[in-house]
Amino acid sequence: MGILIKNGEIITASDRFIGDVYCEDGKIAAVGPGLAKERAGDTVIDASGQLVFPGGVDAHVHMELPFMGTESSDDFETGTAAGVAGGTTSIIDFVIPSRGQSLLDGLAMWHEKAKKAVADYAFHMAVTWFGDKTLSEMGACAREHGIPSFKTFMAYRGAIGVDDPELIQVMEAARGLGALVTVHAEHGDAVVALQKKLLKEGKTHPRYHAQSRPSPIEGEATGRAIMLARMIGEPIYIVHLTCKEALAAVAEARSRGQVVMAETCPQYLLLDDSVYEKPSFEGAAYVMSPPIRPKGHQDALWAALSSGLIQTVATDHCPFNQVGQKDMGKDDFSRIPNGAAGIENRLALLWTYGVLEGRIDVHRFVDLVSTQPAKIFGLYPRKGSIVPGGDADLVVFDPKGTSTISAKTHHHRCDRSIFEGFEVKGRPTHVVVNGRVQFKDGKLDVERGAGRYLPRRLGPTQGSPAVSP
Ligand code: URP
Ligand code: ZN
Ligand code: ZN
Repeated sequence: MGILIKNGEIITASDRFIGDVYCEDGKIAAVGPGLAKERAGDTVIDASGQLVFPGGVDAHVHMELPFMGTESSDDFETGTAAGVAGGTTSIIDFVIPSRGQSLLDGLAMWHEKAKKAVADYAFHMAVTWFGDKTLSEMGACAREHGIPSFKTFMAYRGAIGVDDPELIQVMEAARGLGALVTVHAEHGDAVVALQKKLLKEGKTHPRYHAQSRPSPIEGEATGRAIMLARMIGEPIYIVHLTCKEALAAVAEARSRGQVVMAETCPQYLLLDDSVYEKPSFEGAAYVMSPPIRPKGHQDALWAALSSGLIQTVATDHCPFNQVGQKDMGKDDFSRIPNGAAGIENRLALLWTYGVLEGRIDVHRFVDLVSTQPAKIFGLYPRKGSIVPGGDADLVVFDPKGTSTISAKTHHHRCDRSIFEGFEVKGRPTHVVVNGRVQFKDGKLDVERGAGRYLPRRLGPTQGSPAVSP
């Protein structure tokens, strides 16, 4: 059976027109005005007065991630379902092998966990150490397993973080493979030193998490990672960029023509560090790395979205419950599991506070949440577009619908929302995933295991070498 979405205002990264989209066998079969394709048994969605976007692509999530002595609380089923409820129809999760573990063993574990996803998924591979087999395993990931993007953490020293010699080896290996290196940029040793100092002074409250990782720590690491990438001639993608110092490093590199891409997340655009002053232990809900920044950084990030300095908005979805998880760090901020939920809220927040407040236009919105992540990571045009032959992943969005974000009503498996009380205008009324309506008028109708693994390849644009120093 097909699906006909009629009379919607179709908005892509480049186009805007009133028309219809016809989906058949999980693919987009036709797009245009007055298609009149419908046949008996088809589902017809009247999208008059509504917008139609390509499904969101969230290139940075962590479902059921073993981390800091616990596991992120959304699994692949609940996390992808929450994404669908918010208009995100594909994710890229991170395989994160532990130090000493083979990349391919880690990959097998992630494939097993991800079988229950309700929407399509791909993986980045984190390299958390560099051993004898790492080079050949990176080759197998990129060439045989459809994983041409690698992740390194400059933070989390002693756990999943790498040192500079390891980072250099990863970049060199990725360059040889035409793969992309993504980086969590914070000066890991400086963080450890500041954590120790603060704890020695008896400073254990969640607010000291932010004080142990101030913005220069991110700015320095961003600049260092960019410099190493420049030396090696490797493109680089900075994940969850939060601050002016890091933006300055990206701007300087791009002005020289270096291939540097950057991502930010709604929490860094919309929250400031006063969240750490919430009563009692509530600030722990906002403990994530990098931390939420003081006022001033947010405007710089918005400007970078509209100017094109930042290419994507992801979520870094990595939820932990306040009770039983965040409270592991009641007496020591450095033991609070780092991360928060957000996959369900990304589109509505960026629409409300980006488009409706005049900070970005509708095409930039689609580009940031769907088209650019698909292009950069090798999923385009199958994802991130509305073209015949593309996957039938579509969001019918009511620009007038209003709601208030709350942990009481969200689909995240998490007892807190870092966006609690945020009013949003605009919400999906129908979300089509692989040619099936999986969300309609506030209700999910998902199928455990319906999500498919998306092996990826990077095209010449994504893999193009950086200009020489
Ligand atoms: O605090 C965060 N960001 N948790 C998830 C892991 C990471 O650093 O992306
Ligand atoms: Zn990170
Ligand atoms: Zn992350």
